[in-house]
Amino acid sequence: MARGVLGSMKCLSRRARFRQLGNSVPLVMPSLLACDFGNLEREVERLEAAGAEALHLDVMDGHFVPNLTFGMPIAAALRRLTDLPIDAHLMVTNPVELVEPFVDAGVDSITIHVEPVDDPAPILTKIRKLGVASGISLNPPTPVDVIQPYLDLSDMVLVMSVMPGFGGQVFEPVALAKLRSLREQARQADREDILLQVDGGVNDETIGNCTAAGADILVVGSAFFSHKDYGRRLEKLSQLALQSLA
Ligand code: DX5
Ligand code: ZN
Repeated sequence: MARGVLGSMKCLSRRARFRQLGNSVPLVMPSLLACDFGNLEREVERLEAAGAEALHLDVMDGHFVPNLTFGMPIAAALRRLTDLPIDAHLMVTNPVELVEPFVDAGVDSITIHVEPVDDPAPILTKIRKLGVASGISLNPPTPVDVIQPYLDLSDMVLVMSVMPGFGGQVFEPVALAKLRSLREQARQADREDILLQVDGGVNDETIGNCTAAGADILVVGSAFFSHKDYGRRLEKLSQLALQSLA
């Protein structure tokens, strides 16, 4: 990237920079959950060289989901390794207490789940107030109406297409109906700027259906990292994502 472009991007708030990903949709976003943790620096270098535009970081607390992953020190270590936007997906019971520490660690967006919290509104407000993009997520059994009141406070909606907690699960088609409904709601509410993200079981077979249903950002874990050539993988998945829009 030209120095001038990077320089001007650094002047943007992290929220504005994340929202600019909307100019690159459909966007394939690798989920670091499936990368080689034994060599995070090399993985980040390979992802940058492949042309990844942002990185998805799955934060799990062993309570909201039955698995444990990354905390703030890993987010901060990633921040030192790359200028790419870091998209933190908080699968935790009590996100409010983690918002500020993750912002301090340097992430660019924070997505919370609607299921474990009484009222997502103040948390989404806090996320934006701290200068990063806000996201609201819903699990496959959660009806789309539940997040409707929070769309105005959200820069992104993350539609889960598996129950969160683990990579490598099978895509649940209920996500497609939700994406279509959200795309229509966004159009009616004049919120075409809202980013629709889908996460879980996205692979060569399912990615096209996701973009056709209205997804802007396709999070891909195992179907990305199970291949050696990240550049070719990104290209192939991006092509498949785009094809179904033609
Ligand atoms: C699952 C995570 C996903 C996960 C997706 O709870 O939120 O981001 O990495 O992995 P795949 O693409 O393998 O389903
Ligand atoms: Zn995720």
